[in-house]
Amino acid sequence: MEQQAAKKRILSGIQPTGTFTLGNYIGAVRNWSRMQDEYECLYMVANLHALTVRQDPAALRRQTRESAALLLACGIDPAKSIVFIQSQVPAHCELSWVLSCCTQFGELSRMTQFKDKSAKHPENINAGLFTYPCLMAADILVYNADLVPVGADQNQHLELARNVAQRFNNNYSPTFTLPEGYNPKTGARVRSLQEPAKKMSKSDTNANAYILLTDDADTVLRKLKRAVTDSEGAVRAAEDKPGVTNLMGIYSALTGKGLSAIEAEFAGQGYGVFKEAVAGAVIDALRPIQAEYARVLADKEYLDQVLAAGAAAAGRIAGRTLAKVYRKVGMLQ
Ligand code: TYM
Repeated sequence: MEQQAAKKRILSGIQPTGTFTLGNYIGAVRNWSRMQDEYECLYMVANLHALTVRQDPAALRRQTRESAALLLACGIDPAKSIVFIQSQVPAHCELSWVLSCCTQFGELSRMTQFKDKSAKHPENINAGLFTYPCLMAADILVYNADLVPVGADQNQHLELARNVAQRFNNNYSPTFTLPEGYNPKTGARVRSLQEPAKKMSKSDTNANAYILLTDDADTVLRKLKRAVTDSEGAVRAAEDKPGVTNLMGIYSALTGKGLSAIEAEFAGQGYGVFKEAVAGAVIDALRPIQAEYARVLADKEYLDQVLAAGAAAAGRIAGRTLAKVYRKVGMLQ
């Protein structure tokens, strides 16, 4: 009998630097749960990456658990996917060192996230912030992931991971799978509600700029009502209407309606009606997530058991890759 082809593997991660935003959800996490049946999936909370910005230790511990609970609440099913905490699989850091020795200073200097974060935290431009993409490459390559579902802001890091993998393969022998990025068709770059030139980010100092998955209905409505639009008053997607276009993108991603259908739906109506409709779609999407989040967080034993099993399963795969890499680069066995 013909053997079934092995499933392709997915790895992706999210930092536990706060509750996820609607951008995290539409750009990444929602797709993770949709890919679980077709792929072999590993999803992690990237708590080591969070250290590149100064964190309060107790808050980081709490947010790491909350992030894992939120992943489950967003539909990631531990019976189908491996869910784990990055720091609980030491091979990521070990491979990261080897990969950092195959990465050029110049390549890392070109990373826009490094430039943005250095500008944002001039008092703490640490070496980890600089070598962050090497750790991210290790996260992906240690599992030989075929596909990495991310928002558009992570594409540059992914490209670097591919280049480093290729360089390692050329310098030693074929070892790593070259990972492909996967951006969603709608919502790969959800923008700030206050400054639509920027991406929606949980680290924004203005809480009106983002919607959190834990925001209650009143908060969602208030933030959307305050969202920056323009003076034209027509629901129409256009480059010179980034605020309205962003809201249309959110509405489209959540309802499945195309942009022209949305334009037709709101033709002749003002932004007030449109914003209320967007808020309705967001509230409907968040309601089941929030209920499940509360349930998972309350069950400490269940979450602990999921994460322990996840770290063990991920560690087995990662350990095998690391052993192979160490042998190839000449570490004493
Ligand atoms: P992070 O925690 O910033 O974001 C998690 C995921 O959410 C996506 N995202 C967005 N998508 C659309 N619109 C937005 N406004 C928006 N904001 C965030 C991100 O693209 C990401 O997919 N370095 C990563 C975490 C990471 C990782 C990895 C990802 C660590 N190791 C290995 C993939 C593979 C990060 O900081 O994501």
